[in-house]
Amino acid sequence: INDQIPHDKSLDNSLALLREGYLFIQNRLRRYGTDLFEARLLGQKVICMSGEEAARVFYDPERFQRHGAAPKRIQKSLFGVNAVQSMDGEAHIHRKLLFMSLMTPPHQERLARLASAQWQASIGKWEAAGQVVLFDEAKEILCRIACQWAGVPLQEEEAKQRAEDFYAMVDAFGAIGPRHWKGRRARTKTEEWIREIIDNVRSGRLKAEEGSALNAMAFHQELDGRQLDTQMAAVELINVLRPIVAIATFITFSALALIEHPESRLQLKSGDDGDFERFAQEVRRFYPFAPFVGARVRQDFIWNRCAFEKGTLVMLDLYGTNHDPRIWDKPEQFRPDRFQNGIGSLFAFIPQGGGDPAKGHRCPGEGITVEMMKAALEFLIHKIDFDVPDQDLSYRLSKMPTLPESGFVMSNIRRRN
Ligand code: HEM
Repeated sequence: INDQIPHDKSLDNSLALLREGYLFIQNRLRRYGTDLFEARLLGQKVICMSGEEAARVFYDPERFQRHGAAPKRIQKSLFGVNAVQSMDGEAHIHRKLLFMSLMTPPHQERLARLASAQWQASIGKWEAAGQVVLFDEAKEILCRIACQWAGVPLQEEEAKQRAEDFYAMVDAFGAIGPRHWKGRRARTKTEEWIREIIDNVRSGRLKAEEGSALNAMAFHQELDGRQLDTQMAAVELINVLRPIVAIATFITFSALALIEHPESRLQLKSGDDGDFERFAQEVRRFYPFAPFVGARVRQDFIWNRCAFEKGTLVMLDLYGTNHDPRIWDKPEQFRPDRFQNGIGSLFAFIPQGGGDPAKGHRCPGEGITVEMMKAALEFLIHKIDFDVPDQDLSYRLSKMPTLPESGFVMSNIRRRN
């Protein structure tokens, strides 16, 4: 039926997707001059689409569902099996409100305070070390504060390995082979660790403070009044800890932005909270992290002269929408001032998904992400001086998730007075 929309001629695009990464969808949309096309990925038909209008359709719960959308290999590495990401309808909203209750402004502020303290506490160690890799330091710091905030006990000596495990689950999503399997092993190990903690809280051996993420997950009631089973409670607690560690990626890109865009760095030096906020938003728009999201058509409909048949997998291009010239003036330029009047439509600026997070699958952690990025930026700008030695700061759009190759090495770190 879909003879009106372009079909990619390849038998299967899975390899092209891995090769072209963040640009896979954009490359084909440019080639065909459309904002959607049909392709085959992992042996099935997929409709790929991009842009604000596509996002609006994608986040309509009447038209799309998540059940059956994420491949098992993604659930077993990134998400956790049958977790919030794969739920629909009333049950999803009920679970989602649990997450939203943990991400309110007071929670954001507490995390930001913990972050500032941790960043500052690391100065002594960094001065002595001579040189550090920001990405590695950030993962460890974020792991410590995520656990502290959530009420999860973490020994000082285990922080580094736990941080690596949390990030390995994220790193696995765009990989086949060893990087993917490393993420799956990290998940198995982390789930085991967190299941034991949940059990200890339920049996009273470990105290979980009222209002903490640990307490909330351990005692959350489903719509039928029952508690989550231990495994699911662990998976959902990991669904708040892991992404906090992943903010290390945006922090590393923030540092890169300070180097690549010196005029914006100068603006921050004398800037107020609003300047830091706009800088963080522009980092989230400009630099690549989450490439796209997937859902399945819930019932037949036609949009943009394309028949969406029930059950078809559809991918929405997040990175491409954040660089869409129909939405963004000169999208290839880094310009924090474009957020002078706020972030605009819920379907245009979508680095962490689109729509209303309380009603659909948009990430509930954007507030936390921005606050953590601001805390790191304020630290880098106001609390220390450092050199950026010769290194490979380039990042590949063909690797998902990507990062500046060197992880951002800083040397000759001095405390500012
Ligand atoms: C969902 C990105 C940080 C918790 C998502 C989605 C994306 C995303 C793309 C899927 C949206 C969709 O399915 O439509 C990111 C990025 C982050 C980040 C790039 C930066 C590091 C966080 C943080 C938290 C968090 C800090 C919590 C503390 C979640 C949860 C979901 C989610 C629980 C599932 C929501 C649902 O399915 O309803 N995120 N996120 N994320 N994120 Fe984030």
